[in-house]
Amino acid sequence: MEDLILSSLPGTRDLLPEEIARWQMAEELARRIFDRYGFAEIRTSIIEPTELFSRGIGSDTDIVGKEMYTFIDQSKRSVTLRPEATASVVRAYLQNTMQRGGGITRLYYMGPMFRHEKKQKGRWRQFYQIGAEALGSDHPAVDAEMIEMALSLLQSLGVESRLLINSVGCKNCRPPYIERLRTALNACHSDLCEDCKRRAVTNSLRVFDCKVENCQPIIQNLPTVTDNLCAECAGHFARVKAYLDDAGIAYEAVPRLVRGLDYYVRTAFEIVSGELGAQNALAGGGRYDGLSEVLGGPRVPALGFALGLDRLVMLLPEELSAKWKCKPELFLAHLGEAAFKKALEIARHLRKQGHSCHLDFSAGTLKSQMRLANKLGAKHVLIIGDDELARGTYSIKRLEDSRQWEITIPQISDYLKSRA
Ligand code: HAM
Repeated sequence: MEDLILSSLPGTRDLLPEEIARWQMAEELARRIFDRYGFAEIRTSIIEPTELFSRGIGSDTDIVGKEMYTFIDQSKRSVTLRPEATASVVRAYLQNTMQRGGGITRLYYMGPMFRHEKKQKGRWRQFYQIGAEALGSDHPAVDAEMIEMALSLLQSLGVESRLLINSVGCKNCRPPYIERLRTALNACHSDLCEDCKRRAVTNSLRVFDCKVENCQPIIQNLPTVTDNLCAECAGHFARVKAYLDDAGIAYEAVPRLVRGLDYYVRTAFEIVSGELGAQNALAGGGRYDGLSEVLGGPRVPALGFALGLDRLVMLLPEELSAKWKCKPELFLAHLGEAAFKKALEIARHLRKQGHSCHLDFSAGTLKSQMRLANKLGAKHVLIIGDDELARGTYSIKRLEDSRQWEITIPQISDYLKSRA
């Protein structure tokens, strides 16, 4: 016999039935809320050409430089497990000429993403995101609406969070700012960590992502992109903030917030939670007006966000998810072979009517079957014995108040429907 393989890869895990109610609740509420804002679901490939991400996210980002799961497939093509979905959504939008109808295309997605990051609480190598993208508009109200939608999802789940926003400029104002930043970094080059020394030359804005303690005082004194915006970007940022004010959304403007992906222009935001520890980002997003062109398409102003589902479920109150757990409406307790066959028949009939039924296959005593019904959280138990078979009526017991009465098979479905 071969050795059993008993552990999944580091940074990956199975989501077991007892914890899945929280995930389903978050996913279901997200679908409902996204639907209210006119977003439709898209499911893109999990594997993509590597170039989609190296061009889209930027080859000098940590994601592309250090964290991607890339391999050469049988056709000698370099393929990557998606580390995020924005580049894929833009690719799908262009490939399927979704811009044809004009106006704003609103899309959402949920699913696994893959990044080979250092393991830490709240950080996984296979993790799950719920995300939304609005393509085709540069109106600042779209930015505010996207943020409102993300926050309203968190609110509906009872999760407390803070919104941090910034503007990271555009292709006009960023290059002169980067020059200023480079000059400032050159002046303190020898004090920077090795990564920042490299970033200072290759992609200076990424210095703001540095978590090394010694670099922090230096970073605090660097010029910020927000202080160097062109008039159009400053105007856009002011209008986004005004729309947020109108919607009664509180935010903190953070001039050093740059986000770890190169495609962002103008609005960048993060939603953080104080209850998450070091990995406190629940969601991140922003505008990426130039991404379509980087991928070879026309100009498509767009923005979006993605929320880390793994982190979100850590914050969900138990009471809220308890009612999402799937509990059988009816447990069929049976005594003897004839009653077992009848129980199977009734269960089949009721399931066709849309009811969730459960029964024990181990020929246990009535007591042990009642114990199982309680353990499963069943709402009712139907008792089927020889007497009941002969009479054609059965005892039904409501477990919440122990009320018990007689019922016929045709009556059961109506009764269960009345309790749904
Ligand atoms: P991101 O900031 O890289 O943005 O990821 C968004 C969220 O995914 C994070 O705030 C975090 O909650 C979660 N996340 C990221 N990495 C991990 C990990 N290793 N383990 C657990 N959770 C993680 C993006 O991915 C952009 N595509 C967001 C976006 C959409 N921008 C515009 N549209």
